[in-house]
Amino acid sequence: MSDIAADDVREQHPCGALRGHLRVPGDKSVSHRSLIFGGQGRGTTRVRGLLRSGDVHATWGAMEALGVSIEDHGDEVLVHGVPALEEPSNVVDCGNSGTSIRLLAGVLARIDGHGVLTGDGSLRRRPMARVAEPLRRMGARIEGRAGGRLAPLAIRGGGLHPVDHDLTVASAQVKSCLLLAGLACGTRVREPRQSRDHSERFFAAMGRPLTVHDDRWLEVVPGPLEPIDVEVPADVSSAAFLLVAASLVPGSEVELPRVGLNATRTGIIDALRAMGADIEVVDEDRSGVEPMATLVVRHAPLHGIRIDGDLALRSLDELPVLAVAAAFAEGETVIADAAELRVKESDRIARVAAGLRCLGVDVEERPDGMCIQGGGCSGAEPAVVDASGDHRIAMAFTVAGLVAPAGVRVRAASAVESSWPSFYTDLSSLLPGRAS
Ligand code: S3P
Repeated sequence: MSDIAADDVREQHPCGALRGHLRVPGDKSVSHRSLIFGGQGRGTTRVRGLLRSGDVHATWGAMEALGVSIEDHGDEVLVHGVPALEEPSNVVDCGNSGTSIRLLAGVLARIDGHGVLTGDGSLRRRPMARVAEPLRRMGARIEGRAGGRLAPLAIRGGGLHPVDHDLTVASAQVKSCLLLAGLACGTRVREPRQSRDHSERFFAAMGRPLTVHDDRWLEVVPGPLEPIDVEVPADVSSAAFLLVAASLVPGSEVELPRVGLNATRTGIIDALRAMGADIEVVDEDRSGVEPMATLVVRHAPLHGIRIDGDLALRSLDELPVLAVAAAFAEGETVIADAAELRVKESDRIARVAAGLRCLGVDVEERPDGMCIQGGGCSGAEPAVVDASGDHRIAMAFTVAGLVAPAGVRVRAASAVESSWPSFYTDLSSLLPGRAS
């Protein structure tokens, strides 16, 4: 923690109800795919509402390094696709972004050339064998640290052949990586549970629908991708912080327009409603690549629930802020079947448990989740939470600061840059007077 800049700290205290209307920034998963799929299309893909953040910036730079030209017109971004991508002339830095490195590994594996993918300290600790090994089975040559398991990854692509990949962990990043590589030669992928399906939607919208076989096998058939128009929805994973904050703070009412409502992502809404939250869904629009709607959330007393199985998978990125909601709900909440949280931008089970304990909450850490005793927190001093390398920890504990009587001090608060650079000012715009 000693390398955290002294001024990179955000102290949040309770300061009244959240009220108003906010356009949450674009969905991170859909933004990455707009650039990666659009960059391989046979023409120009037009993207409205692209997320501007550190992670998406990394994918943008990587696609340019592969020969794609991207025009920035503010509200609209034009991605001029290059069906035959180039070998990058330098190392490609994916920053903090797991989606960038894993999807781009699949893209590089099908380019006849050499490329090196790296990232920040957090990304270089995350497991890459889950993409490197199946890509090697398809014929790519991949070297990495720790016996080929960690980035930087050096990839020599080309000459791939089809393989049936029966995944042991449900992961949209791994599934998407293999399907993107499979564009060269065809391939089949099956996952134990359905992870987010944004890539499947892009393949279909771009004229290359995946074949869904019996027993959930997905098959990609080689061939071109046609350009499309994409409206990126507001990110439901970012909206999650406001859904929890407004649910917890008495007197709150917040309206969030055009939030992504993809059923593989809406576990946060289902979990919060099961806890007693008052979330209304209006103005649904299912005309684009992704469904979206306006969410209206009002304060309501919450109670504990069990979050496991598909619900845990459909709310995986939101579990840190759901854990904060649970700490201020009545009764016990159990989070299970979420061991993947340990290999995200940080070990989110350990970080969340440590942060809640610092707030004086009774929490039992388990290998695949945690058990939280609700009822609020007791600390007399602001809880200090380390968010280094992990945007969602920074935002989840800022939300805790809105209800913890002594507040919360988030260290390495600039981690929010990965997915929501304007988080603190956007949050302040919904709060009365000074925000902290
Ligand atoms: C993502 C997939 C998820 C999610 C991540 C973004 C994606 O990871 O946690 O933030 O855009 O494909 P998994 O690969 O574990 O599904």
